[in-house]
Amino acid sequence: MGFSCSQTPATYDALLQMEYLDMVVNETLRLFPIAARIERVCKKDVEIKGVFIPKGVVVFIPINALQRDPKYWPEPEEFHPERFSKKNKDNIDPYLYMPFGTGPRNCIGMRFALMNMKLALVKILQNFSFKPCKETQIPVKLSRKGLLQPEKPIVLKVESRDGIISGA
Ligand code: HEM
Repeated sequence: MGFSCSQTPATYDALLQMEYLDMVVNETLRLFPIAARIERVCKKDVEIKGVFIPKGVVVFIPINALQRDPKYWPEPEEFHPERFSKKNKDNIDPYLYMPFGTGPRNCIGMRFALMNMKLALVKILQNFSFKPCKETQIPVKLSRKGLLQPEKPIVLKVESRDGIISGA
């Protein structure tokens, strides 16, 4: 893409300092965790809070359900980046928010993925604005396939930030 060079460079350090961007990415991954559930194989017989899990059983961890549970997330279906503000984020139970899984086998690409998503967003938003249009599906319908994804591609109106409309 032919981006102009007059913008603030999106360096690693600059991106790390973008607190609100971090909150937005976190909240997006709360509502749309790409891996909607993960699993673990039980290594030995164990009882956890009165539930007996025999060795060899596969346990599913429903990330999507946990991250939208109204018991823990007020207005769970609403997009509220403030949940991840400096003030609020320490109160989040790490077992209720795990878009990258958890423990020694969590996502090895987490930092790379976060940095890349932020870089892409900044570079694109430095040049374009996005608006809903009549083709935009609201609310977005999710597909039932393995990885979390929209049923249909998300169509938005894209506007060049120097005023030239570049199509839907
Ligand atoms: C937004 C992007 C991504 C999300 C949401 C994501 C999410 C996940 C999740 C939930 C797991 C399972 C973790 C667990 O069972 O505890 C996982 C595993 C893994 N991810 Fe990612 N991932 C992303 C991007 C990436 C990227 C960019 C890479 C590589 C560069 C990557 C490489 C891996 C690998 C190798 C594993 C398996 C780790 C293991 O079993 O030890 N992921 N990811």
